[in-house]
Amino acid sequence: MQTFAPIREPQDSHLASKRIFDLIKAELALVEEEYERQASSNIQVIDYLGEYLRASGGKRVRPALLILANYTVGGDARRDNVIRLATVMEMLHTATLVHDDIIDNADLRRNRSSVNARFGNQTAVLMGDWLYMSAFETTVRERSLEIIDILTKLTRKMTEGELIQLTRIGRLDITESEYFDILRRKTAFLFSACCEVGAILGGATREVQAGLRDFGMNLGIAFQLFDDVLDLTADTESLGKEAGSDLLEGKLTLPLIYLLEKEPSAKSRLEKVMFDGSYTAITREELRSMLDDHSIIAKIKERADDHSTRARKSLDVLSKSEYRSCLEGVLSFIAERKN
Ligand code: IPE
Ligand code: IPE
Ligand code: MG
Ligand code: MG
Repeated sequence: MQTFAPIREPQDSHLASKRIFDLIKAELALVEEEYERQASSNIQVIDYLGEYLRASGGKRVRPALLILANYTVGGDARRDNVIRLATVMEMLHTATLVHDDIIDNADLRRNRSSVNARFGNQTAVLMGDWLYMSAFETTVRERSLEIIDILTKLTRKMTEGELIQLTRIGRLDITESEYFDILRRKTAFLFSACCEVGAILGGATREVQAGLRDFGMNLGIAFQLFDDVLDLTADTESLGKEAGSDLLEGKLTLPLIYLLEKEPSAKSRLEKVMFDGSYTAITREELRSMLDDHSIIAKIKERADDHSTRARKSLDVLSKSEYRSCLEGVLSFIAERKN
């Protein structure tokens, strides 16, 4: 059995991460077995790609959230339907990554070749579609219209997020509110749905369900803010995906929106990086030092912390438990993560 928590990293000794992944180790092992079942097929090429994706690992944050949310409301996350839905969330996430890498023309994912780079765009489009549909097929078996409703809405929102983002590619005039709109759709709704579905399956009251939904939303916003910071501050090897790629892909993320407010004269150089698709007009180091001059990374982390605080407050509807405290731990985990 493979391990799932931050796989490539030596720093999985991080307290938050260790506590969380130790507590639900058995459940995540079940998710891994279920993933193998859900991504398998008697069609050889699908079976091969499903295993390629599963074996590439990933942090498994989304199933972990569903499981923790379920336990927090008094559910038993070892039940088959909880494990199935936790896996569905990871399948949906994987489908978005497979499609996202085509859109972003990204060659590297989880320290291996992305599906598009290795097998071509055509294969990647179809495999992404298959993962979505396979995930929905499993969901329909639960016979819960409420859950189907959440997952279809969420998938629509993720697609909208990616489409709106496309319309802003190469634009240096993207506003903060446009940025947050994209971020909520492409990332945060999925985190929110993980927590909400975990709560529903655990028989939570409406109030608790809403609390967990809000928790996931704010956590998801913080998650993407950190992702956008990591793109600027981390290196490709620890990220497992190409560092510095957001600007190269023409995406102006919040740190750069802030930078242009402070230093409008940087506009033409950032534009040139987007246009050239390389850090020639300004190196990554120069960019980093400009961001440091204005304490921008610290400011983004403060914004992420605000969302973490809001997320933590949403958990007040729940009684205190080891699982609740682990859910709070996920907030530290995503803040400390190196990939
Ligand atoms: C990557 O998500 C996509 C974003 C929302 C930024 P993760 O960072 O959770 O990816 P894996 O599953 O651990 O590879
Ligand atoms: C994250 O978008 C959201 C989705 C994958 C839908 P990004 O493009 O920022 O994600 P990475 O950085 O490629 O993982
Ligand atoms: Mg991408
Ligand atoms: Mg990114």
